[in-house]
Amino acid sequence: MVMIDVQNLRKDFIVSKKKKGLRGAFVDLIKPEKEIFHAVDDISFQLEKGEIVGYLGPNGAGKSTTVKIMCGILQPTSGSVMINGLSPAANRKEVVSKLGVVFGQRTQLFWDLRLGESFELLKRIYRIDDNLYQTNLKLMDDVLQINEIIDKPVRQLSLGQRMRGDLVASMLHSPEILFLDEPTIGLDVEAKYSIRKFIKEINQNFGTTVILTTHDLDDVEQLCSRIIIINHGKIIEDGPLEMLIDRIAPYRYLIVDFYKLPEEINHPEIEVMKKENTRVWLRFEKNKTSAAKLISDLSLRYQIRDLSVEETKIEDVVRQVYKS
Ligand SMILES: Nc1ncnc2c1ncn2[C@@H]1O[C@H](COP(=O)(O)OP(=O)(O)O)[C@@H](O)[C@H]1O
Ligand SMILES: [Mg+2]
Repeated sequence: MVMIDVQNLRKDFIVSKKKKGLRGAFVDLIKPEKEIFHAVDDISFQLEKGEIVGYLGPNGAGKSTTVKIMCGILQPTSGSVMINGLSPAANRKEVVSKLGVVFGQRTQLFWDLRLGESFELLKRIYRIDDNLYQTNLKLMDDVLQINEIIDKPVRQLSLGQRMRGDLVASMLHSPEILFLDEPTIGLDVEAKYSIRKFIKEINQNFGTTVILTTHDLDDVEQLCSRIIIINHGKIIEDGPLEMLIDRIAPYRYLIVDFYKLPEEINHPEIEVMKKENTRVWLRFEKNKTSAAKLISDLSLRYQIRDLSVEETKIEDVVRQVYKS
């Protein structure tokens, strides 16, 4: 079942064109020149119910703009978005009731209220039924331990506590879709862990469809069955993370400590990447050979003190995709 259907989405912004140098800055002041900037440039994708998709891209790629259009905050220049069959532009109220949104850089809580009072106010604004509200608060407390901070004023919450509060706020009306724009930004390991746990649990328990924008690739690795990578407003990759890794960097690494560093390691399936004292980093193609075979080959020829096997880091893969 398709929950989100984005077709040929475009968003242009009119921006002033910057001229170079001091003289240019002067001319800009007197006679500013405008130009069209394509923040989202013909993006199409579909999300099935229950998918957790990582929406990735370098800064300025157009991620937040896409999210804002999908939840009806911005109007697209052209193209269409359908949320469970409805257009956010034409059916704002109905669509909003199906969506939860969290922007990591902002809060929807009220600085001057206690966290619990903020929830109460949101409950009234969104006319959330009493029973549903109580049930959801209870559920959210199980996952995010919200009761221990519910009486704190929002302005006194730490960043991680505030984010827990924002996540609860976004789920009070049981939305079917959750947009999370950088929910783990600036958080410590503990807070990131609880947020990932939250995303996993709501997805498993309620089948919530999640779009997650993040720079933290551990988030992606632990949560996302699929990633969409955009750059300059266009989609450059869309598929399962493993497929991307297999295509771009189908390698594994053997890190070997020798008793005595060999002069040369000649093996047709091994590429030497780096040497440091008696330690050597070796790369091999994981579809062509296995770590077990290489370890046995090496230990026949050399005295090995210790070794470990490493996977390709997804940072490296994603960095390579951004470059292309
Ligand atoms: N209201 C706006 N007016 C002009 N340019 C904008 C506006 N909002 C975003 N942009 C530009 O559009 C591009 C994409 O922004 P954004 O979607 O926030 O990127 P991301 O979230 O991927 O970092 C950026 O270059 C940004 O400066
Ligand atoms: Mg952004």
